[in-house]
Amino acid sequence: MSASPRTVENTTIDRAPVTVTSLLQQKRQGRKMVMVTAYDYPSAVVAEQSGVEMVLVGDSAATTVLGLDSTVPATMDELLMLGKAVRRGLKATFMVSDLPFGSYEASDYEAVKSAQRFVKEAGAQAVKLEGGGVMIDRARAIVNAGIPVVGHLGLTPQTANALGGLRAQGKKAEQAAQMVLDALALQDAGCCAIVLEAIPAAVAEELMPLIEIPVIGIGAGASTDGQVLVWHDLLGLLEGHTAKFVKQYANLHHEMVAAVASYADEVRDGVFPGREHTYAIPPEELQRFQGSLAQIHGAEPSEVEGHPA
Ligand code: KIV
Repeated sequence: MSASPRTVENTTIDRAPVTVTSLLQQKRQGRKMVMVTAYDYPSAVVAEQSGVEMVLVGDSAATTVLGLDSTVPATMDELLMLGKAVRRGLKATFMVSDLPFGSYEASDYEAVKSAQRFVKEAGAQAVKLEGGGVMIDRARAIVNAGIPVVGHLGLTPQTANALGGLRAQGKKAEQAAQMVLDALALQDAGCCAIVLEAIPAAVAEELMPLIEIPVIGIGAGASTDGQVLVWHDLLGLLEGHTAKFVKQYANLHHEMVAAVASYADEVRDGVFPGREHTYAIPPEELQRFQGSLAQIHGAEPSEVEGHPA
């Protein structure tokens, strides 16, 4: 196994499509799986070329690309539009779309209708919903409609108000035990995977031997079958606070500001555009053009073709 950075040259572009079956097989073989969020075509292309197994069109788009301060306001239309763009950039990668807050909680009917839109309109291969309790019924209803579902337990940002804020969950024994029961119930409901967010590593370690479907962690330690990170966190696309569980693999914000500032400097200094960025005209055409300009200069504006007085 190599820890050296991957380059574009050694990326795997042609590979077998990832499916719910291949993910299950991967878990059984003990091979770690990788998920990243993506919200548009270019990020999907990068994810695809990087060889990750899964892309999540997360409702984290509300904060990362829409500039909102929580995931709660994300709408169906916004996530569908982002999902469609992501779909165009993916080939083999398995695409999961988040069901936004308010699109699935009230009834099984609404949950199925919303999930169907992500499959039909955005081409999602699975949908993700947050929470245990009654959400397990919603998950089962969607699964029964033939749509793979990813559960999400631990810190569930859509209901952060009820959790007392964006904070680690499962630090109390009863809460941790309830999480295990919810994970088992989601599995029983037919979920194809579960995301565990911001829970003690030791709780995840106890839970892992009990769960047969892939478990993807974010802030749940190293024992899960795979990891997910938010695109903007992993690439350092935004400045500011990040959660304890984030590892930043690049500082693209810094690089982008430097690039745009260089562009601005070069425009102001007359360095850009250079000759290599300009189009040529054959010399005889230029001469003819200059000749016609001389005529235009000598003419009254009203006499110039196409220029009414
Ligand atoms: O919306 C999102 O990005 C998520 C991940 C943090 C798992 O739900």
